[in-house]
Amino acid sequence: MAGEKRVRVTETALRDAHQSLIATRMTTKDMLPILEQMDEAGYWALEMWGGATFDSCMRFLDEDPWERLRLIRARIKKAKLQMLLRGQNLVGYRHYADDVVREFVKKAVGNGIDIVRVFDALNDLRNVEIAADQVKKEGAHLQLCIAYTLSPVHTLEAFANMAKKMTEMGADSIAIKDMAGLLSPGDCIKLVKAIKEKTDLPIELHSHYTTGLASMMYFAGVEAGAEIIDTAISPFAMGTSQPPTESMVAALENTEWDTGIQIEKLLPICEYFKTLREKYKDLLPAIAGVNINILRYQIPGGMYSNMVNQLKEMNAIDKLEDVLKEVPVVREAMGFPPLVTPSSQMVGTQATLNVLRGRWKIFPKEIRQYFLGYYGMPPAPFDPEVQKMAVGNEQPITCRPGEKIAPEMEQARKDAQPWMTEEEDALTWIMFPQVAKDFLPKKYARKHSRDMGLQAQADPAAYPA
Ligand code: CO
Repeated sequence: MAGEKRVRVTETALRDAHQSLIATRMTTKDMLPILEQMDEAGYWALEMWGGATFDSCMRFLDEDPWERLRLIRARIKKAKLQMLLRGQNLVGYRHYADDVVREFVKKAVGNGIDIVRVFDALNDLRNVEIAADQVKKEGAHLQLCIAYTLSPVHTLEAFANMAKKMTEMGADSIAIKDMAGLLSPGDCIKLVKAIKEKTDLPIELHSHYTTGLASMMYFAGVEAGAEIIDTAISPFAMGTSQPPTESMVAALENTEWDTGIQIEKLLPICEYFKTLREKYKDLLPAIAGVNINILRYQIPGGMYSNMVNQLKEMNAIDKLEDVLKEVPVVREAMGFPPLVTPSSQMVGTQATLNVLRGRWKIFPKEIRQYFLGYYGMPPAPFDPEVQKMAVGNEQPITCRPGEKIAPEMEQARKDAQPWMTEEEDALTWIMFPQVAKDFLPKKYARKHSRDMGLQAQADPAAYPA
């Protein structure tokens, strides 16, 4: 019977889909007119904050990410609002102190986030510990992520044990985050079943269409027991984005996994996002369809194109095949990290250096830090000889990296003080000091002029009530 094992749908159009397809450039103004219809469509959740959107809001769109969150929250009553948090990195590019992590989670939930999806690039759960603890303290839904990757140490048992640990950490659900689209339907069935043996928590499937496998994988995963799927409304689906919402809803219709969403309700949403796709067409990737090299080399699309670009710049594109063959060597020495930001860049750069300058002759600063343990512990031990070459006489750390960072909030509040209009600004300041130095004075000026009743905003009609 439809309804008994209903599958829930999380729409990614407002976060991952535009981050993946149009470089995170969708504005709040673009989003607001369609929110009411999205809220009525029957989605379980809208993923709409975190990831690269925080940085992009300020850097490219001259928008305050906190303001975006509040404006969306005010219009969404039924669907849950979901964000992506990179563990101790939050939405930035380094590890922050524990007090920053706690304050950020507090403010994110305080401003309206219902579900916080937390992951760590190395699957080192120590790096999500503080964020997870604070999400629970704030009373929000804690979703912990398994970053899916292929390697000799990423066995079904290892992933299932991770899920068990996440359950013990208080997770309310578990996401399988397949950032490269490498999880095949058959492997997904095995993975979901293995996890289900260790936990009763709902499983959410997250993938990218890069290899063309994603919607088949979703269907197989749902049959095996996964309860939630991440999809994007069709004008912002496929390619490097998620499977299309409409197709997945149709595929599951009249099965025991019926989503309960009526296709008719998706029609105006689809039409609306078509106009946005047209608006941003210059930013869309040149080639749609499947990248066969991702299937051949089992690395994420972004990593592959970065390596191609790096080699072209160095006039060494003829070495591509050698570099691709060097990737597994580097990855093994680094303890088989999942290939996701930032480890994918590190592995790609080191493989390129090894081929062009000689194996292990040069180590960039980030890779020395990596071998010193400052990113956390990878799934397998570092190769001790390579580690020695990388770090020399420096002593690697073995504790949780966050423990090594002294509290940072107080100083951030002092530094941001001249431009602060709300407490959230101190967080913005500490995560993106360069961008914030430019952005916060503008926010302050706008707020100030509004307070004076001058309505000096460039576009006062931008945010209709
Ligand atoms: Co994604």
